[in-house]
Amino acid sequence: MKRARTGILGLGAYVPERVMRNSEWAAWVDTTDEWIHSRTGISTRRIADPAQSTVDLAEAAARRALEDAGLGVDAIDEIIVATDTPEVFLPDTASYLQTRLGAREVPAFDMAGSGCAGFVFGLDIARSRAAVGNRCVLLVGVELLTRIMDWSDRATCVLFGDAAGAAVIGPGEPLAEVLACTAGTDGSRSAILCLETGGTRRPVTEEAVSRREHQNIVMNGREVFKEAVNRMSAASRQVLEDAGVAVGELALVVPHQANLRIIKAVQKNLGVGDETMFVNVQHYGNTGSASVPLALWEARAQGRIRSGDLVLLTAFGAGFHWAAALLRF
Ligand SMILES: CC(C)(COP(=O)(O)OP(=O)(O)OC[C@H]1O[C@@H](n2cnc3c(N)ncnc32)[C@H](O)[C@@H]1OP(=O)(O)O)[C@@H](O)C(=O)NCCC(=O)NCCS
Repeated sequence: MKRARTGILGLGAYVPERVMRNSEWAAWVDTTDEWIHSRTGISTRRIADPAQSTVDLAEAAARRALEDAGLGVDAIDEIIVATDTPEVFLPDTASYLQTRLGAREVPAFDMAGSGCAGFVFGLDIARSRAAVGNRCVLLVGVELLTRIMDWSDRATCVLFGDAAGAAVIGPGEPLAEVLACTAGTDGSRSAILCLETGGTRRPVTEEAVSRREHQNIVMNGREVFKEAVNRMSAASRQVLEDAGVAVGELALVVPHQANLRIIKAVQKNLGVGDETMFVNVQHYGNTGSASVPLALWEARAQGRIRSGDLVLLTAFGAGFHWAAALLRF
């Protein structure tokens, strides 16, 4: 039996309406617009309305991706949600999304704790599932990171934002073929970027909450910075090598949007020009697993991607996990 081509059939994204400027952070913590902008490149981020929860953002992005693919909700054969900020602790956000969308009773699961690499990591899984079973997989990266961070910790709170991005991957005439994917994990350094309270090792207690430990994202910013640059650069080179593509052939690189200085360092390592690097961290901050699909969606909406273009995705996050994918539009 001849297998249909599989690839990305549609993309979607959603950001909450509320825009929070750097200057507003000065009311919460000892910081300035100048510090945040010069150290991170971030000017604004979106904050979800208190009435919104993870599934609201996921649904909005998913419906846009389905519309972009020209598919109805009945076409979905599987749902994967990459998130570190789930709807509830149990069950997973994918279950809520299945019901909210009115999808068939298909397998649905979360990739929890995969950090900012979740969506690109998930793309590798989604394309395998799509190829093996001729399935149509809905992949969503969604985060309400502003809900889990400590709004009094200036070293972390100014970095993050809320958003969702989605892709439909399956058989059909693809919007983008997935030429190659790579991913990796180094769990030995997980303590450098983690949220320890809330699991079995350190359950939530009244004392822990009073010390805000349930919101305490532990991060050694400098170490994470170095690791992010090295891993995203290496994963990019790996996926190019696997696909037999030279860096000069790339039309666009869409990196995880954590910090402009990290993006610039990856750009330098790859040896590509400004026109090849997509940047939107200034508008949204670090939106975790939503960052790459949101950037990809926005790049396409801005006309930065044309048919035939080779586009490289690269991401890094807690775990440490990293992943890269090479697409041909
Ligand atoms: C967090 C990050 C922006 C900090 O930038 P940095 O240049 O490394 O700054 P440092 O952590 O060395 O802090 C320098 C000083 O600024 C202070 N500072 C930290 N946050 C601040 C803020 N929001 N406003 C003002 N000052 C701040 C620190 O307290 C420190 O002061 P000190 O020298 O008196 O101790 C940077 O390390 C980074 O982006 N790391 C990666 C984070 C990331 O992307 N995480 C997610 C990965 S997916």
